[in-house]
Amino acid sequence: MRIGSAASLDELFDLVLEAAHEAVGYESASLMTVDPAGDALTVRASRPGRLVGTRVPVGPSISWQTLERREPIIIEGPADKALGTTYTKDVPFSICLPMMVAAKTHGVLNVNRTAHPGSDVPLFLRILADQAAFAIERMELYGDLQHFTGQLLSQDEEHRRRLARDLHDGLAPILVSAHAQLQSAGVENEQVDKATALLRRAIRETREILGTVRPATLDDLGLVAAISAAAREMATESGWTLEEALDDPGPLSREAESTLYRVAVEALNNVKKHAAAHEVRLALLKNEDTLEIDVADDGHGFETEQWGEAGVRPGHFGLLGMRERVAFLGGLCKVQSKPGEGTTVRIVVPRDRLR
Ligand SMILES: Nc1ncnc2c1ncn2[C@@H]1O[C@H](COP(=O)(O)OP(=O)(O)OP(=O)(O)O)[C@@H](O)[C@H]1O
Ligand SMILES: [Mg+2]
Repeated sequence: MRIGSAASLDELFDLVLEAAHEAVGYESASLMTVDPAGDALTVRASRPGRLVGTRVPVGPSISWQTLERREPIIIEGPADKALGTTYTKDVPFSICLPMMVAAKTHGVLNVNRTAHPGSDVPLFLRILADQAAFAIERMELYGDLQHFTGQLLSQDEEHRRRLARDLHDGLAPILVSAHAQLQSAGVENEQVDKATALLRRAIRETREILGTVRPATLDDLGLVAAISAAAREMATESGWTLEEALDDPGPLSREAESTLYRVAVEALNNVKKHAAAHEVRLALLKNEDTLEIDVADDGHGFETEQWGEAGVRPGHFGLLGMRERVAFLGGLCKVQSKPGEGTTVRIVVPRDRLR
């Protein structure tokens, strides 16, 4: 259905009413969403269109009852007394459905028709209402994220770092554990697969946002000293012997500097997380045409073939992110590893892409 492709909420609402009309037909219909304060419903789309903007405060209306019951209400003729509300539609049948995602109610879809709804019509409308709710939720989240990204890009450096820290320490771990939970639930169906894929994307995008924020140490120290400081800190924490061979890379663009720093730090982080190494060798080599960064450990190592051709461990993003970042600079990231034989990560980037 096209409603997944709407570019704005208003377009989405219109598409929902259109889809309902195409599929089940009606004399009139409307879509209402719950106001941010939660104390009223506002008509966001209607056919005919004259109701748009109408507010329905919390009360005994059919719409609010639908939301409270979390169940569709189908009315034939005048409303049942049990509903405790007068109902004045001059159409024989009225179907009111909640738009919900999990526990959250976003609004209601209201369809009025002369023809008897039978059992298929409510069923279809229910699916449509569910899809609409998902689309609304997605758009709202997307809006939040865009707002957030906008803030990240517009604020001063200090503010951006603070936001980045919140993302890194707050949002990212939540996304990662939600992803892990879904994966370990052992449920296999299309929706779970889709949700897992979406979360994976959310994690990647969060990382990308984080990637746009320049680490403070780079400005203070420059690339070589910043990488070295990170490596030494990890060596102290993890008890490695660290061997360093660091050439001066010469002038680098800010972008190249950030990329190389992040990639090196991710390689070191992996050593810290996975290798249980004793010795780690960190080299930055200025070759004739290329700049090379090697991170080699004598730790556990791992089977590089086990995750298929792409060599990406499902649900893990470090190596993938490294490859993507390095590829962006026209370079290559090679991982050489075998169980019991340690791991070497070699990043090679053409020097003419670094200025
Ligand atoms: N230096 C290393 N020593 C041993 N195993 C490693 C090393 N580097 C990577 N691995 C293995 O490769 C896997 C994939 O690494 P990757 O960086 O993509 O993911 P991760 O570190 O598990 O999670 P993430 O980086 O997303 O937080 C790791 O889970 C680990 O099994
Ligand atoms: Mg990693």
